[in-house]
Amino acid sequence: MKTVVITGCSRGIGLEFVRQLLARGDRVFAGARRPEACPDLMQLAQAHGDRLTVLPLDVTSLAHRMNLASTVGDRPVDLLINNAGVYGPVPDRLGDTDENAWLETFRVNVIAPRQVVEALLPQLRRAASPCIALLSSKMGSMGDNGSGGAYIYRSSKAALNAVGVSLARDLRSEGILTLILHPGWVLTDMGGPNAEITVTESVSSMLKTLDGASSGDNGRFIDVDGSTIPW
Ligand SMILES: NC(=O)c1ccc[n+]([C@@H]2O[C@H](COP(=O)([O-])OP(=O)(O)OC[C@H]3O[C@@H](n4cnc5c(N)ncnc54)[C@H](OP(=O)(O)O)[C@@H]3O)[C@@H](O)[C@H]2O)c1
Repeated sequence: MKTVVITGCSRGIGLEFVRQLLARGDRVFAGARRPEACPDLMQLAQAHGDRLTVLPLDVTSLAHRMNLASTVGDRPVDLLINNAGVYGPVPDRLGDTDENAWLETFRVNVIAPRQVVEALLPQLRRAASPCIALLSSKMGSMGDNGSGGAYIYRSSKAALNAVGVSLARDLRSEGILTLILHPGWVLTDMGGPNAEITVTESVSSMLKTLDGASSGDNGRFIDVDGSTIPW
């Protein structure tokens, strides 16, 4: 049984991570900005109260991150899934820069994932084979950017990738792996109705990648099929 902490569990990919990890018997700490407004998550908490702790977690809030760390306490954390993310304003047209929205997107997608890692470093250090997963996106890849646009989202995920590589380098001597994951184009509120795969498929593929992770995957930008994405 692993202890797993997940951010952004109100819906979409985060909620599905909670479902699949509980189904396989893991111990889960699930953060959501407003848990009381998430009936699906609260239902899971009722059914799995002994293995699921749901807590209020806006990842940009220092008080919430401190509460997360104290709720997890001195338990070793085997896996931290930094999933919470925002797309930013749509449309994001050249000639109409929304500076505040850009900064807010960076707060959630880039700065907060590092801060959540910082909050849980003591618990990660206690685990036998700890791993940090960052939910990035192929849209953060320069090599894959054939269509342009999406300045805010693309740049935030590219910056998250840089954070991931530095975490991988800084923490490798302590045996903590950092994996940078693209979940596929997934049918969620963010992915929209034209997306290619379901949350079930996306999360089960990412869990397969995480289960098989080794030192060779540290700092790797990994597609949902396990292949490497160009930076
Ligand atoms: N869907 C795709 O096709 C796709 C593709 C590539 C990458 N991704 C990435 O995968 C991750 C999950 O995406 P998704 O498709 O599940 O998106 P989603 O359906 O829009 O869900 C986003 C989740 O992040 C949470 N969140 C947003 N801001 C937060 C904050 N400040 N603090 C805590 N939680 C916050 C949301 O909570 P609220 O309900 O409170 O808003 C929600 O739980 C994101 O990082 C996204 O960029 C998704």
